[in-house]
Amino acid sequence: MVKICCIGAGYVGGPTMAVMALKCPEIEVAVVDISEPRINAWNSDRLPIYEPGLDDVVRQCRGKNLFFSTDVEKHVFESDIVFVSVNTPTKTQGLGAGKAADLTYWESAARMIADVSKSSKIVVEKSTVPVRTAEAIEKILIHNSKGIEFQILSNPEFLAEGTAIKDLYNPDRVLIGGRDTAAGQKAIEALKAVYAHWVPVEQIICTNLWSAELSKLAANAFLAQRISSVNAMSALCEATGADVTQVAHAVGTDSRIGPKFLNASVGFGGSCFQKDILNLIYICECNGLPEAANYWKQVIKVNDYQKIRFANRVVSSMFNTVSGKKIAILGFAFKKDTGDTRETPAIDVCNRLVADKAKLRIYDPQVLEEQIRKDLSMARFDWDHAVPLQQIKAEGISEQVEVVSDAYEATKDAHGLCVLTEWDEFKSLDFKKIFDNMQKPAFVFDGRNVVDAVKLREIGFIVYSIGKPLDSWLKDMPAVA
Ligand code: NAI
Repeated sequence: MVKICCIGAGYVGGPTMAVMALKCPEIEVAVVDISEPRINAWNSDRLPIYEPGLDDVVRQCRGKNLFFSTDVEKHVFESDIVFVSVNTPTKTQGLGAGKAADLTYWESAARMIADVSKSSKIVVEKSTVPVRTAEAIEKILIHNSKGIEFQILSNPEFLAEGTAIKDLYNPDRVLIGGRDTAAGQKAIEALKAVYAHWVPVEQIICTNLWSAELSKLAANAFLAQRISSVNAMSALCEATGADVTQVAHAVGTDSRIGPKFLNASVGFGGSCFQKDILNLIYICECNGLPEAANYWKQVIKVNDYQKIRFANRVVSSMFNTVSGKKIAILGFAFKKDTGDTRETPAIDVCNRLVADKAKLRIYDPQVLEEQIRKDLSMARFDWDHAVPLQQIKAEGISEQVEVVSDAYEATKDAHGLCVLTEWDEFKSLDFKKIFDNMQKPAFVFDGRNVVDAVKLREIGFIVYSIGKPLDSWLKDMPAVA
């Protein structure tokens, strides 16, 4: 029986391996992690991450051919293929701080693999890593191998949170990069055979190691670039009276451009886009390509601009002050159908409003209060580091922030409400009831274009929708970014 082990039971390791176990019943899959609470949660009825369809997959295979364990060394020792899906945060200190990927977790995983292995193994990079990381990992493994043969493959993950299970069942493609040697090609074939259980072979792309590593960074940079493009356009729409939804539709029907990823919003978030672009920028700079680096920097700058522009719009619309005013925040996750808050635009918007002395009442259907408080107190990039760094005290903000359990409670007595995540339930709220319970004039700031602005204006709200023609009230109070 082939044995697979995955180091890192996070948003990628957990769902990816659960689907692999389901699709390959004759393969034993162990997902291991140094975090005991995370593994305990994977072994419980309340999984550590919210992802539609995940519970069902885990229930079908856990205890049969899918196991979650903290016994990292035992499972690495026993396995034929080791996936490494640990975090690859942005460095916070030293050379490349604020841009380069911090490979501390990766390196310690590689050294441990070398230490415990007694048989040949294929080591698969599942984490998103800088180009040529495989080379460094290869060196660590080979120099500590005691004669054991290791083959390194790059197999970046393209799933999107919120649709991870669907994406894993039907990936657009699976990408496998390996060495151009006989042993390298054999390793590629072995991994290809695993995916071929459910992915058509013509959708399994095989490349060299560096192309696979770079393709993942490139794909995320292209996706984020589309969002920043439409968001830059949204600012111009507001200034000119154009409607960004109409513009995006007209642009997206061009088959060369396509309609996906053209929704204007308060900004992109998630653990990957910013981190991977920063990493790409650093690699360009290290390779003496400042013009290429500056091109990608602009994608992040526009995203920051969009978040601040939104928060400024809230303040300027409410007579240029939100001091002591109650503002309801509907949605904190970085997008719907996930509880993930990493780099969510809600953090920047809330922090900006808190700095202006607003009182926030936050509601998100999936995010726990503790997480929200941590997020609002954490320094940039700390979220992706090990637990001790994340034991942060939520001082200062605590009296300005309340976390509540439904949208009606959040909006009661509020002066304004901000929609920051596009949860479906926000579309069907009883806005008449909300209006009646809010202070007047009552403002809605829709950062995701989910509410029916026409209907809300009829009720009496002053409505701001990203990239849409402005209410006369808002026109008189331009937001300066
Ligand atoms: P995560 O933070 O949810 O999970 C990483 C896990 O690795 C943590 O549970 C941590 O405790 C564990 N870990 C760290 N060092 C370890 C070690 N030495 N031994 C055992 N466990 C260790 O991260 P996530 O989101 O799963 O991402 C993992 C990688 O996949 C990152 O490189 C990310 O960029 C990439 N990725 C993430 C996607 C996403 O949507 N979240 C999508 C595609 C790629």
